[in-house]
Amino acid sequence: MSAPRLSVIGTGYLGATHAICMAVLGYEVVAVDVDPAKIEKLAAGEVPFFEPGLPEQLAKALESGRLRFTTDIAEAAPADVHFVCVGTPQMPGSDACDLTYVDAAVTALAPHLDRRCLVVGKSTVPVGTAARLTALVQDLAPAGTDVELAWNPEFLREGFAVNDTLYPDRLVFGVASDWADERLRAAFAPILEQGTPVVRTDLATAELVKVAANSFLATKISYINAMAEVCEAVGADVKDLADSLALDDRIGGRFLKPGLGFGGGCLPKDIRAFAHRAEEIGVGQAVSFLREVDAINRRRRARTVDLVRGMLGGDLSGVRVAAWGAAFKPNSDDIRDAPALDVARTMHGLGAHVRIYDPAALENAKRAFPELRYGDSALDVARDADVVVLLTEWAEFREIDPDALAGVVAHRRIVDGRHVLDAAHWRAAGWEYRALGRS
Ligand code: UGA
Repeated sequence: MSAPRLSVIGTGYLGATHAICMAVLGYEVVAVDVDPAKIEKLAAGEVPFFEPGLPEQLAKALESGRLRFTTDIAEAAPADVHFVCVGTPQMPGSDACDLTYVDAAVTALAPHLDRRCLVVGKSTVPVGTAARLTALVQDLAPAGTDVELAWNPEFLREGFAVNDTLYPDRLVFGVASDWADERLRAAFAPILEQGTPVVRTDLATAELVKVAANSFLATKISYINAMAEVCEAVGADVKDLADSLALDDRIGGRFLKPGLGFGGGCLPKDIRAFAHRAEEIGVGQAVSFLREVDAINRRRRARTVDLVRGMLGGDLSGVRVAAWGAAFKPNSDDIRDAPALDVARTMHGLGAHVRIYDPAALENAKRAFPELRYGDSALDVARDADVVVLLTEWAEFREIDPDALAGVVAHRRIVDGRHVLDAAHWRAAGWEYRALGRS
C-alpha cells in the first residue's frame, strides 16, 4: 500500500502537533482550521502556543514542502486518511463534553469526500460518539463514496508534545474492519517501525482508553493529595510518604506528586465528562469515585489559600503576595483551569495585593484576568512581599537562591505549593517554609 495522504482537521494544540510531526515523518499533510489567524501564523512558521521543540519541527515540515495549511475544508478531499483533532471542552454550566466542534468538523468534511477514505477521530469524546459519527459521516458523504470511521486516541502531554507524538508509549486503533486497521498502520508506519506497541480494538474501547487513562492519572494525583490531608491532621510528612510509596514498583512515583493538584484543559474536564457520561448510560456508580477525585483536587486550591492565610495571622487584606506561576503546569503557557491562577484570584478577592510572574503564561493570564497585577520576573514580583507562594513548578523557581531572595522581600515566608523546594535549605537561610501536608 502506498503512503496515505493525510488531512488534519483542527490546528489547536493536538492538531497542529499531529500535522507537523506527520509531515516531518514523511507524509503529505493538509491541515485545516476555521480560524484564519491561526492558519496564517502556522503557514508563516509561527506556532500560536508555547510548546518546546515544536517551532523547530514546524520549520522542518514547511521546508519539506509536505505540509500545507488552509481554511478551506474542500482542500482536504484528496486525502486518504482524515484526522479529526478539534477541541471537546466542558459544556458551560454542565459536566458534559461539548461535541459542537467535532460534529461541525465531520459535517463540513463529509460532503467533500469523493474517494474511499478513513475518517479518524483523535479528540477526547464520550463513549458512543464514534458510533454516532459513523452514521453521520456515511449519511453526509456523497452517494457511493466508501467512508469508514476509526478512533485513535491521543495521549500527548503539553510540554512534551513533540516527543510524545514521535515516540508514543502505544498506539490504540479503534477500527471496524481490517481495511481501516491497515490504513492506520500505513499512516503510522515510521512509528510502528520503532517497535511501538499497537492495541487493535473496537471503537467504543478506543474512546474509553483515553478517558480511562486520564481518570487513572487524576485519581493517582488526588490519592496522594488525600494522603496529604491526613498528614496535615497528624503532623506527618506527605513528601516522605509519597517517596516511600514510589519505591514500590507496583505503585511507582509518576503522578504521585502531592501539592496544589491538577488543572489544564484535559484532566479536570475529562473526569467530569466521564462521570456524566457514565450516569447517562446507567453505570454512574462505577465511576462515582471520580466526583471525589474532583472534590479532593478542588480542595487543594482552597487549602493552599488557607495555608497562606494561616501564616499571615488569618487575614490577607493588605498583605503583599508574590505569586510564582500562572500556567497549569511548567513548560506550558496554558492557563485553562490553572490551579495557580485560581489561588491568586482567591487571594486577590480576600484583599491581598497579589503580583504574578510566569515565564511563559503571563500574556494569556493578563488577557484572561486583567484585574490582577503582574511582574517581569520572580524577583520583581517578590519585591517587598510579605509572602512568596510557589504555584507552578517551573525550573527557574527551583533554582532561586534563598539568600538572594531574602534581600528583596519584606518577610522571609515561602509557601511551596508544589513541593519542589528543599525545605531544609530554605529554613537554614532563615525562611519560614510551609507546604501542605509537610510537618
Ligand atoms: C494529560 C495527560 O497526561 C496526557 O496523557 C493526555 O494526552 C492529555 O492530558 C490530554 O488529554 O490531552 P496534560 O494535561 O498535558 O496531559 O498534563 P499532565 O502532565 O498530565 O498534568 C496535568 C496536571 O496534573 C498538571 O496541572 C500537573 O501539575 C498535575 N500533576 C501532575 C500533579 O499535580 N501531580 C503529579 O504528580 C503530576
